[in-house]
Formats: sequence, structure tokens, C-alpha cells
Amino acid sequence: DKGTYPFYMLKEIEEQPLVLRRLQQKYFDFHGNVLLDDTLLQEISASERIYIVACGTSYHAGLASKAFFETLTKVPVEVHLASEFGYYTPILAKKPFFIYLSQSGETADSRQVLVKTNQLGASSLAITNVPGSTLAREAKYALSLEAGPEIAVASTKAYTAQIALLSILAYAIQLEKEDSQLNLLQELTLVEEAMTQVLTQKEHIHQLAKDFFRDTNSAFFIGRGNDYAVSLEAALKLKEISYIQAEGFAAGELKHGTIALIEDGTPVIGLITSEVTHLHTRGNLEEVKSRGAKTLVISETTFAQASDQIILPKAHPLLMSLVSVVPTQLLAYYATLERGYDVDKPRNLAKSVTVE
Ligand code: M6R
Repeated sequence: DKGTYPFYMLKEIEEQPLVLRRLQQKYFDFHGNVLLDDTLLQEISASERIYIVACGTSYHAGLASKAFFETLTKVPVEVHLASEFGYYTPILAKKPFFIYLSQSGETADSRQVLVKTNQLGASSLAITNVPGSTLAREAKYALSLEAGPEIAVASTKAYTAQIALLSILAYAIQLEKEDSQLNLLQELTLVEEAMTQVLTQKEHIHQLAKDFFRDTNSAFFIGRGNDYAVSLEAALKLKEISYIQAEGFAAGELKHGTIALIEDGTPVIGLITSEVTHLHTRGNLEEVKSRGAKTLVISETTFAQASDQIILPKAHPLLMSLVSVVPTQLLAYYATLERGYDVDKPRNLAKSVTVE
């Protein structure tokens, strides 16, 4: 039931801080210990390489989790599109571990890979939002996203739940090996508060969506590192519901070709949440601006400039994707409202894709 919300998507965007809270309650005890199966943690920590396999938004959640996961666990992580992995299996590590990310747990492309890796005898974990789903049943281990039913075709809360749950998993694996400098519970609480703060900027973001996207046919999202991963997700969200041709690019890659597409008034949205890369991304925004682009900057408060349009509260640098994705979801939502389309049921799309 969407209650007083005009669309499920808005309700689901607004539920994200609550979902984060639920994940903390489910996966931590009162003393701050992580509640995850020891054999699962030992298997992952003893593996040589982790393969995250997923589609669409879930694939993007994998990309946005890679840096945090590797930093904490010290196990290399590869993120793969299920539909590609199905046809060409890369040379696998001797002790691989597969993580399947899927909101529905029914995505045929992902299942196809799971069947194959099961045949190879590889161990696996399915992270889904539907406990009894096919992937959850067929993988060796299963964890639930606790996001509650996601009805809108455009996935929002499942994305942030996947990143948050992977961060808890990575933290638990790190604790198997060594003491952690991190207090993850505290960091997730900060993220939750930051998300809530971004949601209070809803009306401001609505105005920006109107101004930037009502009458455009194309848009670009740019960023570096995790900001690049979020750019890919931001672009997918915008294109699937507003039908604007949107692309996410690594900011440094623009000059190697894509910049040719910039015309007078082309919207370019820059994501800036990393101290290491913020100046470089700003440089890229200047380059497109001087070629006529209309720029919108989403920046973390520490490196924000007066002209930036959306300011994000500070959270752990490797968890900032949980915060920065929220305004991009709202931009896609309001852009679609302004263009007069059905937000929850975009054309040609189904909630779960059960064909390969
Ligand atoms: O249920 P899954 O997470 O496996 O679904 C994967 C994709 O089909 C899904 O994320 C799709 O890209 C969404 N419509 C994106 O909003």
C-alpha cells in the first residue's frame, strides 16, 4: 500500500533510512557484534577471490561496494554482469566465492550463472530481498535485504540495502582476521542521518529536476571512483523512467570521446564525495561548462563550493554512495513527474526479468 504517496517509488526512496536501521537491528546484537553465520564468514575470508554477479541496479550496487569490501577484507573482488558472465567465464581463482545480488532473487541471467557455478562446485551466497526466492534457495548461503516489498520498477531501497549489507558482511570478515579501526554501527547511523537530511531537500531537488530535465533529451552523470559507480546508477534510474538518454561516465574519460556530445544546455551532473578526486572532477566540470554544458554539482559538505546545488552531509568516504545516490533517485523521480510519465510502471519494463 502506498498510503498517501502518489507513487511507490517516492515511498521507497523515503524508506531508505528505515531500511538501514532495520539492517543494523537484524545483523548486529546489543553489544555491537555482527550476527552472521561463522562458516559463511570463514569461507569468504579463506577464498582467494570474490565474484559479485548481478544485473542492472544490483550490478551497480556491487560496483559501489567493491572498494569498501576489498579495503576491509583484503580479498580481491570482481564485479560481473550476469548476462555476460553466462557466456564467457573468466579464468577463476582456485578458491572462488560467488555473491549473487538480486532484489527479486528471480533474475534469470543471474540464476543461469548460479547453476553453472554450482555445477563447478563453487560456494555462493545470495543476497536477495525475497527470502524464499530461487536464488536464495539455490545458493549455498542466503541473506535477506530487509528492505520490505519493492513495488516500483525502478529499484531504489534495494540498492542502498545491498551496499549496506555488503558493508556489514565485509566488516564481519575483517573482524575474523583482525581488529577493526572502524565502528561500523556508528558509521551506518551517520549514513542514516545523512540520508534523512538529503530527504529534507526534496522540494529543492524537485525544482532542480524541473529546471534541468523537463525539456532535455540527454544528460550525463560524471564522477570518479565510487562517484563513478553512483553515476552509472543515477543514469540508469533517469533513463528507465523519464526516457531521457542518460549516461554515467568516469569523469576523467570524458575527454577521450564523450565530450564531443556536449552541446549548449546539455545537463552534466557531477558527483563529488571524495577528497582524493574532488579537484579533478571539478576540472572536468569546468571543461564541459566551457563547451556549453549546464552543470549541476552534488557535493559532500567538506569540499562543497558556494555554487554547488546539492550539498550532502559528511559520512564515511567509502559509504558515501549510500548518501549521494539519494538525490539522484529524487532527480529521476521528479524529472519523470515533470515529463508526465508513470513513475512506477515505465514502458517496456517488468519488475523482475525472468528471461535470459
Ligand atoms: O531483481 P534484481 O535485482 O535481480 O533485478 C536486476 C535488474 O533487473 C533491476 O535492478 C533493474 O535494472 C531495475 N529496473 C533498475 O531500476
